[in-house]
Amino acid sequence: MTDQLVFPKGFLWGVATASYQIEGAVDEDGRTPSIWDTFSHLPGTTLHGDNGDIACDHYHRLDEDVELMAELGIRAYRFSIAWPRVQPHGKTAVNQIGLDHYRRLVDALRAHDIEPVATLYHWDLPQALEDGGGWTNRDTAGRLEDYARVVAGALGDRVQRWITLNEPWVAAFIGYGNGHHAPGLSEIGAGVVAAHHLLLGHGMAARAIAETAGRSPEIGISLNLSPVRPASGSDEDAAAVERVDEQRNRWFLDAVLRGSYPERLLEEYESLIGDDFLHDGDLEVIRADLDFLGVNYYTPLRAAASTNAKVPATRHSSYASWLGVEDRPRGDVARTTKGWTIEPDGLTELLLRLGKDYGGIPLYISENGSAFSDYVDPNGEVRDPERIEYLRGHLAAAHAAIAQGVDLRAYFVWSLYDNFEWADGYGQRFGLVFTDYRTQDRIPKASAHWYRRVIAANALDV
Ligand code: FCB
Repeated sequence: MTDQLVFPKGFLWGVATASYQIEGAVDEDGRTPSIWDTFSHLPGTTLHGDNGDIACDHYHRLDEDVELMAELGIRAYRFSIAWPRVQPHGKTAVNQIGLDHYRRLVDALRAHDIEPVATLYHWDLPQALEDGGGWTNRDTAGRLEDYARVVAGALGDRVQRWITLNEPWVAAFIGYGNGHHAPGLSEIGAGVVAAHHLLLGHGMAARAIAETAGRSPEIGISLNLSPVRPASGSDEDAAAVERVDEQRNRWFLDAVLRGSYPERLLEEYESLIGDDFLHDGDLEVIRADLDFLGVNYYTPLRAAASTNAKVPATRHSSYASWLGVEDRPRGDVARTTKGWTIEPDGLTELLLRLGKDYGGIPLYISENGSAFSDYVDPNGEVRDPERIEYLRGHLAAAHAAIAQGVDLRAYFVWSLYDNFEWADGYGQRFGLVFTDYRTQDRIPKASAHWYRRVIAANALDV
């Protein structure tokens, strides 16, 4: 006999994507290059030299993609807006054609009863702003605020749910800290400064949306969060857990929800780069009133004290080596093709902790999903039982947190369809829908049909 886990009434079921990963049409209708266009065209930065020039060609296929979501029973769509379509120079001049594209998207979604959830910034910074220092330049926070005002002014009558930033930790420490992502800088100090300016921009943008958007907006931020577990029972590994948790989770959570930075890490950062980056009043700006917290969860971290000396960052070094720790994932559990261990109980642990430590702010799971070696079989079908198991496990884990009182309101699968997976190019398939990049055919995988049934029942069979 199977059990049914019923989700709360009104639970929001969605899928997520991001502009650079799906849109293509990179030089059309006034769009200028973003840092990801520049970076992905440099040799050696992405798998096979892949880039987002065409991606899923979503810019030209908006209507059919919305139809596809409607057919799959999707109730909410988290997408991101490409800043260089809206403000090609990163400031002042507004490109109306760019804004109109997103108005069309939102109108098409609403016509199909799909709730739009708009992310302002999912890593595609206008190159023009990068030329002025990008996120290492404090002024970029103000530019994000202006951009937020423009977008909220144009879409605020039809979008209610807003996410300021996607994963500022990744944007800062992988983009500027080790250079594995755009813009490709490998300086840990630049990562710290970028993280602060991203957070400052978040606070300013959140206020700008609240002031500008018409329909009593609900505003949040999406953070990549992971429970951190020790690799052994040693005191050294327990200390490593604390360090990773501060650097990865608490730096961002404490800042946006409490208006403070973890003290020990702040001192360490200040001894590295001085204290000029942090101005009086910044943390009050960063602690904007939020209506929800977006949680992006894929896998836990497992920290061990490193026996190697701290090493300076290089493109392929892990941020962890700078912290003097190692991430040592479990060897005894299954992994996705991305290499991430599959540990759904990490999601329950994370949600319970957020519920307990951060004052019961409503939570959305704004990303969760998995990549596997999917292929179209001779019958034209894509069977992905591993993804169904992954999603089932994580939804059951989310339900367990709800059953223990956590205020979880939404769940977004990463991703609607296979797309440009950053430095991994087209090599990782995260979609519920298979993308055939030669023909741009979209083929719903078995998991998409399975998800449609979960949504229709508002319940999970386990
Ligand atoms: C997250 C990103 C998203 C996607 C998934 C797999 O870190 O926000 O764009 O790449 O990972």
